[in-house]
Amino acid sequence: MAGVKVVGGSASLPLARAIARELNAPYVDVGFEKHPGGFPDGERYVRLMDSVAGEHVVLVQTTHPDANMVEYLLLADAIRDGGATRLTAVIPYFGYGRQDKRFLDGEAVSAKTMAKHIAVDADELLTMTIHNPDLLASFPLPTREVSGIPALGRYLKAVDVDLLLAPDDNAVRLVKEAAAIAGKPYDSLDKTRLDSYTVTVAHKELAVRDRSVAIVDDVISTGGTIATAARELKSQGARRVLAACVHGLFVGRAAENLKACDEVASTDTVQSPYTKVSVAPEFAKALRERLA
Ligand code: R5P
Repeated sequence: MAGVKVVGGSASLPLARAIARELNAPYVDVGFEKHPGGFPDGERYVRLMDSVAGEHVVLVQTTHPDANMVEYLLLADAIRDGGATRLTAVIPYFGYGRQDKRFLDGEAVSAKTMAKHIAVDADELLTMTIHNPDLLASFPLPTREVSGIPALGRYLKAVDVDLLLAPDDNAVRLVKEAAAIAGKPYDSLDKTRLDSYTVTVAHKELAVRDRSVAIVDDVISTGGTIATAARELKSQGARRVLAACVHGLFVGRAAENLKACDEVASTDTVQSPYTKVSVAPEFAKALRERLA
């Protein structure tokens, strides 16, 4: 793609390179360490290794955990100082997206806080399967949500899965989309969250005996939701349980919780040992539409 260069932050290097390949655009390498091993206090450092003067730059960086947000801001600033004429922020997993409203007086609406700082240097923002897409209209820069579900749908079409399952109401729209792409039926459970670590699911008879079931969610964080749904499926005779998500954070007791599943698959919005499918085609398509 003429006139576009791609830069990747350290949280999203394989994805950024894959997007550059999809767009047939030059990739600008970044130095992340001034001295071998980086700064002893853990602060981030970035240096663009090629010129971006006069270019339209696509900056790809997931902003979770916090240090990756700092690195995003450093890169965006360096790109602007380097004379780029346009900056498109591609934030595959938007950190702080789940604090999408003021639940109690005095709270920060964290998702909007992040957007305000991104808007300082970026002309537009593309992000993926965000917790509350309605929030994007209040961001201070043009923002588009790209769905990561087609990538999961492609994966689930190719593997041993008979049925897709939404663990809660929020996930139903995602599972519907994945099921249409995978060409497989879907059902749902009804989850109640008791606290950050504990969820329950209402008992519901599911047609899962001797079948392979994929639980599909936007995010796996502690794995509590997935483990609870997986136990319900196994207790009803499911032969195999696969957990699939767009954003695999895998924090806290996630590794322990996910032992309830036979397989875990996530996309590369957050790189992890469970990353099995890339959302590069989804972002490349959205960028082509944006830039056309
Ligand atoms: C909640 O609305 C989300 O869709 C996920 O179900 C939730 O973030 C998963 O969190 P955890 O893995 O900690 O249960």
